[in-house]
Amino acid sequence: MTTTIRNITLVGGSGRLGSTILSALQKSPQFDVTVVTRFTSTAIFPPSTKVIKVKDDYPVGEMVAVFRGQDAVVLSIGFGPWSERSHSSLVEASIQAGVKRLIASTFDAGVNDEAQKIFPVAETKARIVEELKRNEASGWSWTAIQCGLCFEFCIRYNFFQINAANRTARVMGDGNTKFSCTSLKTIGTAVGSVLKNLDQTVNRRVYISNFETSANEILKAYGKAVGVDEWNVTNFDADEAIDDAKKQLLLSSENLVAMGTLGLAIVVKPGLGGDFKAEGLLDNDLLEIPTLKVDQVVTSILKAESKVTKCSEITGTQG
Ligand SMILES: NC(=O)c1ccc[n+]([C@@H]2O[C@H](COP(=O)([O-])OP(=O)(O)OC[C@H]3O[C@@H](n4cnc5c(N)ncnc54)[C@H](OP(=O)(O)O)[C@@H]3O)[C@@H](O)[C@H]2O)c1
Repeated sequence: MTTTIRNITLVGGSGRLGSTILSALQKSPQFDVTVVTRFTSTAIFPPSTKVIKVKDDYPVGEMVAVFRGQDAVVLSIGFGPWSERSHSSLVEASIQAGVKRLIASTFDAGVNDEAQKIFPVAETKARIVEELKRNEASGWSWTAIQCGLCFEFCIRYNFFQINAANRTARVMGDGNTKFSCTSLKTIGTAVGSVLKNLDQTVNRRVYISNFETSANEILKAYGKAVGVDEWNVTNFDADEAIDDAKKQLLLSSENLVAMGTLGLAIVVKPGLGGDFKAEGLLDNDLLEIPTLKVDQVVTSILKAESKVTKCSEITGTQG
């Protein structure tokens, strides 16, 4: 494959990941980027962004017309009961339109069978990848980016249950299992890198991370950032937390706390493949992914969230 990618359509460019992907792609003079947004969306894009509005469920016929003439389609659509069907429509439309490379809306951690049994999102993403494989055809190809935990989300949504005001933390398991983490900015970089390395990334998952860390290391880094030396830590059992979260999800499939618990469980439970480095999977060199230090990243996220002052000034339950 000796194609150069120029015209890219990004679907979901207003989202949490999508907006950083858009920003990274727009910075590269090689790419001419168009964003697809839904008619009902209230999204606002940076000035001079080319925007196309489409029906909410991305009908195949309409999307074929939108994707025609595009070299690549990047999907970064949110996750919900609707997303798998929307993803399928977008994949089908990209094939019919003659797009050369589709980057799927995966951006996830666990691909291991056991992880899929625990975390419904991982199971759905695995099905998405199986569908991509089934559709491999001459001229059309795909890449799925595995980024581990998106680190900003973990800190912002307090995955690690840190309460700096009370100097307490609840840690799943013993807190020592390492897992891969990537920053939002790096995910944007990785999308551009994949599109500049088509041959090396064809029809496969690529694995990236800025660092591998553990819950205990994150707690230490958090303490350093907010001036807490000693934490009062309560460890809780991962399997019990999984059972409990699954019960909660039976009551409401959209319980985000329960979903978050399962998403965390698949990386902190040993043996589920959450540490891409240990598994020898990383494509960091190929995709020019920077190595970062957990301390620096925690500090910069907390600064951006205005949480780095003195610990005594921090209030609320989110630490
Ligand atoms: N590894 C991790 O830790 C991690 C963390 C978060 C997300 N992710 C993954 O990253 C991908 C993007 O997630 P995200 O959190 O960035 O998504 P998001 O912000 O929730 O949504 C992204 C975009 O999806 C579009 N969309 C299409 N149909 C929609 C619908 N019915 N309801 C709401 N939005 C809809 C919207 O674009 P318009 O409004 O412009 O139409 C929205 O801005 C997903 O695959 C997700 O699973 C991974």
